[in-house]
Amino acid sequence: MQGLISAHGGTLVNRAVDTGGAAALAKEAAGLPRLTLSAKQSCDLEMIGIGAFSPLSGFMGKADFERVCREMRLASGPGAGQVWPIPILLAVSKEQAAKSPVGSRAALYAPSGVLQAVMTVAEQFAHDKTLEAPSVFRTEDPAHPGVKQVMDEGDVCLAGPVDVVRVCADPDGPEAFLDFRLTPAQTRAEFTRRGWKTVCAFQTRNPIHRAHEYLCKVAQEICDGLLIHPLVGETKPGDVPAAVRMECYKVLIENYFVKERTMLSVMPGAMRYAGPREAVLHSLIRKNYGCTHFIVGRDHAGVGNYYGTYDAQRLFDEIDPASLGIEPLKFEHSAYSRRAQGMVTAKTFPKIEGDQVNLSGTAVRDLLAKGERPPPEFSRPEVADVLIRWARE
Ligand code: ADX
Repeated sequence: MQGLISAHGGTLVNRAVDTGGAAALAKEAAGLPRLTLSAKQSCDLEMIGIGAFSPLSGFMGKADFERVCREMRLASGPGAGQVWPIPILLAVSKEQAAKSPVGSRAALYAPSGVLQAVMTVAEQFAHDKTLEAPSVFRTEDPAHPGVKQVMDEGDVCLAGPVDVVRVCADPDGPEAFLDFRLTPAQTRAEFTRRGWKTVCAFQTRNPIHRAHEYLCKVAQEICDGLLIHPLVGETKPGDVPAAVRMECYKVLIENYFVKERTMLSVMPGAMRYAGPREAVLHSLIRKNYGCTHFIVGRDHAGVGNYYGTYDAQRLFDEIDPASLGIEPLKFEHSAYSRRAQGMVTAKTFPKIEGDQVNLSGTAVRDLLAKGERPPPEFSRPEVADVLIRWARE
């Protein structure tokens, strides 16, 4: 691992126990209060377990929660003072909290019913949603999917370190992608094996269309390698399922990328749709996976009209680069220009009325449902065909 970028906070956390430890924890769990996690909490737990959320070793306590909301910094532990934009909480009902007093141990079960971890409850505190929602999402509108998620969560937060028994909660499920579910330690080892010193990560929750591809390729011009790193944790209804997206990524790489310079692996985190703050979290996660550069395009991690097109990029400008540690590569809105006969942004080609090929999500969905490919200037035909098959199922 020598020579690669350090994990956030300096040390890559590993909270996943080995087989022997797992058997002992499973035995202990049988006698502990049972807590069933939401999909988002289960994703967060995996992220903590594998070190993707380094330096966190468990769910946050009150001091961290408040400082993260107010100042985007951690307050305690080995990560004290480090940049951290979004609280990672285990919010439960009052009844559930009563069964898990401070000092006790609790067994955490994934939504699928499997034992995922055992935690030590170090602290309990009231879930201050009126602090969390506006600071993280810049809105309290319950129509915002991330705000709604927070509002639906419990009123008491349990904090403390976790020991993860099972990293991927549903290894036989359609979204396990075990061959592509590399941990940060594994991506780091692979980068070293490939001799990559600079690696750019591309976060996505969508099929890769021409605009996304363009950003990836520009990044490839300046980095040794590209990690296509789709988020496959919980997303909102209406987003393209991860299994379909994975097929899209594979055909795209097969047909349009240099394999030696391109790697595909999944990121099991949950989507929060928090725009700017989530963009910063996405970059810190990729730093933990060993990446040196991170693509931030238009309205990164945004939803609806809650964030300005370049708000995420502006938030990076407010953070001292040394405390972030990974370099954001900022891209303006890109699209195919008929006149230029290639992908452009406002930085590279003048805007001419009607020149660029831009399609709304709704227009794309309508075409796919009719069995029609969007134009090749918008989406590669191989990708379009995967999406057509899915849309017409
Ligand atoms: S996101 O929620 O993961 O941000 P998406 O998968 O659509 O959604 O975007 C992945 C990355 O590509 C983000 O950095 C986003 O800002 C960027 N992006 C998407 N479309 C464009 C575009 N047309 N021009 C520039 N950047 C874009």
